[in-house]
Amino acid sequence: MSDKNNNSLLRIPRHLAIIMDGNGRWAKKKGFIRSIGHKNGVDTLREITTACAELGVSYLTVYAFSTENWSRPQSEVKALMTLLVSSLKKELTTLMKNEIRLSAIGDISLLPAKCRRELLEVMDKTAQNGRMTLSLALSYSSRIEMVHCMKKIGQKLIEGQITISDIDESLIANNLFTFGMPDPDLLIRTGGEMRVSNYLLWQIAYCELYFSDKLWPEFTREDLENALIDYQNRERRFGKTSEQIAEENTL
Ligand code: IPE
Ligand code: IPE
Ligand code: MG
Repeated sequence: MSDKNNNSLLRIPRHLAIIMDGNGRWAKKKGFIRSIGHKNGVDTLREITTACAELGVSYLTVYAFSTENWSRPQSEVKALMTLLVSSLKKELTTLMKNEIRLSAIGDISLLPAKCRRELLEVMDKTAQNGRMTLSLALSYSSRIEMVHCMKKIGQKLIEGQITISDIDESLIANNLFTFGMPDPDLLIRTGGEMRVSNYLLWQIAYCELYFSDKLWPEFTREDLENALIDYQNRERRFGKTSEQIAEENTL
């Protein structure tokens, strides 16, 4: 990103969330089977992850496989799980080189044992990396996350660890898969759809949204930089007035 546009590192989102959509359509457009689109999507993810680490993003959370995606044809689900295992094996070097910690959100227990093992191994090996946390949303849906959260809080109530008056926003946030992470500042969705598809619904309450028509395998570092420039020109008011924000910025 040129200096002209990157006038302050403080204006790089601390937490960037991405819905990586459009792999299937990209493959179809090129005359390939869908799984080739997913394979090319991994190359884009490597490129964008590296760019985010270099630009100073602290948390990158990408939607890789939704709870609803389990309902796709079994052959596609199988291809995606195989791709996950092979990519995790291959990407360890890139993660270590760029000091990126791998994490995961979602119902990991539903993943095939081999995927889960590989995932936990890479998470373990990268646990001490401190430049950026890359979280893969795998078998993730926001509503399921909320169900898990309510069960955990319910259990604590039954066991007498908490009372009703202890239930507040921070207790809920601390019992979501994303506990310990700041809320996303910017959500990018590729593939042209203007929807959030059950992704981080609690966490994106005040997130800036950016939609790109580019299909994920063709999304480039330049496209990412354009999204960041767009974000830098937004005024985040969090319910306040423009004048209040201007005054806060002069303090
Ligand atoms: C996103 O691309 C990747 C996953 C959901 C796993 P899609 O596979 O949804 O691609 P389109 O939207 O059908 O083009
Ligand atoms: C969202 O994409 C999930 C991922 C990118 C993993 P989908 O392709 O599953 O979303 P819909 O079905 O178009 O809403
Ligand atoms: Mg899609």
